[in-house]
Amino acid sequence: MSSTQPFPNVHLLAQSKQLLGLYTIIRDKDTIRSDFIFYSDRIIRLLVEEGLNHLPVTPKSITTETKQKFDGCSFLGKICGVSIVRAGESMEQGLRDCCRSVRIGKILIQRDEETALPKLFYEKLPEDIADRYVFLLDPMLATGGSAIMATEVLIQRGVLPERIFFLNLICSKEGVDNYHAKFPNVRIVTGALDAGLDENKYLTPGLGDFGDRYYCI
Ligand code: PRP
Ligand code: URA
Ligand code: MG
Repeated sequence: MSSTQPFPNVHLLAQSKQLLGLYTIIRDKDTIRSDFIFYSDRIIRLLVEEGLNHLPVTPKSITTETKQKFDGCSFLGKICGVSIVRAGESMEQGLRDCCRSVRIGKILIQRDEETALPKLFYEKLPEDIADRYVFLLDPMLATGGSAIMATEVLIQRGVLPERIFFLNLICSKEGVDNYHAKFPNVRIVTGALDAGLDENKYLTPGLGDFGDRYYCI
């Protein structure tokens, strides 16, 4: 794992053969929904684990059962998840699996199917969100419009950009550029950087509509 040049503040998961195999399954148009869910969930878990690696820690020494001192660390600070509804909700369980009883907020943003422009319908966030590290959850970053709108909501609520981690399965290079032009200090943790967008502003090669494939088709 490292930041990707020329995309500073984009942390791309190690491109192992195992990860490539997982993406091959979820990108395949013939993959059935139950497999799409299962293998997406595996990638989501990797993204959450990587996001957690970026949180600050403080040194902590403990004594082991063998009466030896062990110099370790413990996590500092509180976190919460914020999902961009609907597709982002698919990432909530992966976060819950790693962070017991984590607080989760929701922002409902939908892209207009004709114009691909995002529209904000609803937000419900933890009261003390400004004091937390925020894992913003959405599997797809295409034009970047939805993520930008969601991040504006978080910043209006007092969250510092440096405390936001955007966890994402696939992003386009154009979307990253658009997003980081506004929020250069938000860290994006992703598993794949796709080359472009098609005429309908879908990622290419992409995987189609994530929300439909996870919840409907
Ligand atoms: C998808 C996706 C992102 C957005 C990405 O959501 O989950 O929120 O599009 O596109 P953008 O970067 O161009 O804004 P969509 O609006 O399709 O809603 P859904 O989650 O209900 O499928
Ligand atoms: N939303 C999706 O689900 N997929 C895309 O490729 C773009 C937006
Ligand atoms: Mg959709």
